[in-house]
Amino acid sequence: MADALRIGIAGLGTVGASLARILMSRHNKLADICGRPIDIVAVSARDPGKDRGVDLSGAQFYADPVEMARDAEIDVFVELIGGEGDPALASVRAALQRGCHAVTANKALLARHGVDLASIAEERGVLLNFEAAVAGGIPVIKAMRESLTGNSISRVFGILNGTCNYILTEMERAGMSFEECLKEAQRLGYAEADPTFDVEGNDTAHKLALLTSIAFGTRIAPDDIYLEGISNISIEDIRAADDLGFRIKLLGVAQRTDSGIEQRVHPTMVPKNSVIAQVDGVTNAVAIDADVLGELMMSGPGAGGDATASAVMGDIADIAKSRPGHQHGPVLGRPAVHLDPYVRARMRSHEGGYFIRLTVEDKTGVFASLAKHMSDNGISLESIVQRPTQNGNGDKKTVILVTHATMEASVRQAVESISSDGYLIDKPQVIRIERPES
Ligand SMILES: NC(=O)c1ccc[n+]([C@@H]2O[C@H](COP(=O)([O-])OP(=O)(O)OC[C@H]3O[C@@H](n4cnc5c(N)ncnc54)[C@H](OP(=O)(O)O)[C@@H]3O)[C@@H](O)[C@H]2O)c1
Repeated sequence: MADALRIGIAGLGTVGASLARILMSRHNKLADICGRPIDIVAVSARDPGKDRGVDLSGAQFYADPVEMARDAEIDVFVELIGGEGDPALASVRAALQRGCHAVTANKALLARHGVDLASIAEERGVLLNFEAAVAGGIPVIKAMRESLTGNSISRVFGILNGTCNYILTEMERAGMSFEECLKEAQRLGYAEADPTFDVEGNDTAHKLALLTSIAFGTRIAPDDIYLEGISNISIEDIRAADDLGFRIKLLGVAQRTDSGIEQRVHPTMVPKNSVIAQVDGVTNAVAIDADVLGELMMSGPGAGGDATASAVMGDIADIAKSRPGHQHGPVLGRPAVHLDPYVRARMRSHEGGYFIRLTVEDKTGVFASLAKHMSDNGISLESIVQRPTQNGNGDKKTVILVTHATMEASVRQAVESISSDGYLIDKPQVIRIERPES
């Protein structure tokens, strides 16, 4: 059997401790599969005395992960600390610069510094693997980077944040408000004490930025993403969606258009009978529209120690199986120096269906006025539904408009004109509709 692959794990929290347990408990099986043992020779965390549920006494402890990354006894540096800055950045950079493979689950780090780190890895001829950074245990990076090489991808979209999907699923199932479902998610450990990053879509945006780069061969552009979270989704929206044959999901969508690439994260109406509409709770899903293959859809656990460690383990095993001196494939699917600049398609040019919910005064002429504003802006309606407003006193009504495919700019203009007519009682709600192929 070949020499052991010596790994150092920086970060022994939810994912790191889970990874250490897998590596220790399946040591012999992994050695058989990879043709060489995988040994944990070094670890780094803040607290050296904390019980991690696994015996790591044989590994050298480093208080400083950057120092560990410089240790020549380590063949693979595994970064499971988190955060886009140091020490995650400095340690991964230090490992790559000395020609050491690196594995990370850190989407924040890669969204911000992925191209630079990929350049270093490619210059040094080592791997930088990051399967766990997008959709946890779902092997989407490998699928896009390797298996779909012969395809041209036109769209990739997905449910990339389990916290948001749990909240939206519970709002529909239990008929509870966003705030009540968020509290429940926090109680169950599905949401952080400060949930902003998840519910406002930033976490989804980091993952989307990586998917976009691999799908379209462009430089990672985390700041060029249209972002809307789920905190203003009300139970009225959920019920109206249900009545009209839709469910609401927080989607990250990257799509090639004539004017560039759209990157958008927003609550989205998806037809109830589509596959992605059936993805409930904390489960993640990614769909890829590929020209040769058609639509590929993968769903599974998107977070949690074991699911994430499973993906990290796969990345380490790939390194263990690679032949010494063998030329490795590019980190982002094409060499970092050949990534195209990202050209942003303007959100105003986005074309699709829209759900518009309006609370209006119940008086004559309102319906006719709404219809006129729609037609003045060239918007054709798929349906228009009027219903009594929940808890209303009879002098207001809810009107729901569903449009055929139209330009975002036209919808914004129509809603602005409607707002200036003076009969709106609440802020209008506008939710985009996405139609998956399956
Ligand atoms: N948790 C998930 O479900 C999940 C899913 C997908 C991706 N990820 C990604 O995986 C990475 C790790 O997440 P996690 O949930 O495992 O985080 P975590 O539970 O907070 O663990 C972080 C670990 O990093 C250590 N650490 C923090 N600062 C350090 C420093 N300055 N020097 C050395 N060690 C330091 C901590 O040490 P102490 O334990 O001593 O405090 C802890 O062991 C993140 O990038 C995250 O985005 C996580």
